[in-house]
Amino acid sequence: MPEVTYELADGSVETVDVPVGQSVMDGSVRNNLPGIVAECGGSCSCATCHVYLDEAWADAFDPATDEESELLEFADGSEARSRLSCQLIMSAENSGARVTVPESL
Ligand code: FES
Repeated sequence: MPEVTYELADGSVETVDVPVGQSVMDGSVRNNLPGIVAECGGSCSCATCHVYLDEAWADAFDPATDEESELLEFADGSEARSRLSCQLIMSAENSGARVTVPESL
């Protein structure tokens, strides 16, 4: 099963299994990790699942849609490697991906 490593706002690091087809957001919420609020439940309309995707993994996921990019423009602390974790879907190819979770608002 694919793994995702989350670097949390307190500096701790957690690696969890996330099934193929589920998102990086799902992996965080299902394992009760702090920081990813996911208010909209993954429908790409809240931006409370903002993470920084490690640059080494930038091409391992589908690029951001226009909808995701527009939401990220208004996310606090948004930068080039920002993604909405509900849009980062796991596959065998992106196992091992690493994200940094900003402090939740
Ligand atoms: S969970 Fe709302 S945009 Fe990702």
